[in-house]
Amino acid sequence: KLAVVVLISGSGSNLQALIDQSLHGAIDVEIKAVISNKSDAYGLERAKSAGIPAHALSHKDFDSRDSFDNALQSLIDQYNPELVVLAGFMRILTEDFTRHYEGRMLNIHPSLLPKFKGLDTHKRAIEANEKEHGVSVHFVSAELDAGAVILQAKTNIEANDTPETLANKVHALEHKIYPLSVHWFAQKRLTFDNGKAFLDNKALPTTGI
Ligand code: GAR
Repeated sequence: KLAVVVLISGSGSNLQALIDQSLHGAIDVEIKAVISNKSDAYGLERAKSAGIPAHALSHKDFDSRDSFDNALQSLIDQYNPELVVLAGFMRILTEDFTRHYEGRMLNIHPSLLPKFKGLDTHKRAIEANEKEHGVSVHFVSAELDAGAVILQAKTNIEANDTPETLANKVHALEHKIYPLSVHWFAQKRLTFDNGKAFLDNKALPTTGI
């Protein structure tokens, strides 16, 4: 099974989707550890309930971004993961950190990248009068939310949608495409070469889930 470390900052519903699918054998993944930069993240409880080592490593205990990322890297690497999965991990990462995990770190971002990088994506999509919105899984690169896209899923924005209703719709999509992307990586069907993502040696992204 693919050894994975998951990084979170909050609720951890994407973590839960990965836990559920790995426990059911739907994906060939073993979550070795969960690390949160927030000690009160509910996702840490989800990890403990599943018997997964859960760590809180607060960025507030470090005096620079570099020192936090170094400590985070040391903690992650104690578990020798083949893949690092960012699941609602709300930290900007240093270039050194992203380079260390190049081609073996995924992120999920709640927009149809390259649109709406950064925060408040649902509100911004509504305010921009977008007809469609969605979510993207991508390899992590040094530039924020700019790594090679692997898989996207779309939903319509209806006239009565609010940032909250849209977030709920997007979350449901996330829980499908993130485990699937990780599964592809576990099966070695998903690869990374020279800044680009490939599925079965064909250039990604694939859209349409
Ligand atoms: C998800 O919607 C994820 O796409 C987003 O945070 C949420 C975490 O939810 N990630 C980002 O915004 C990354 N910049 P979860 O804790 O319930 O999985």
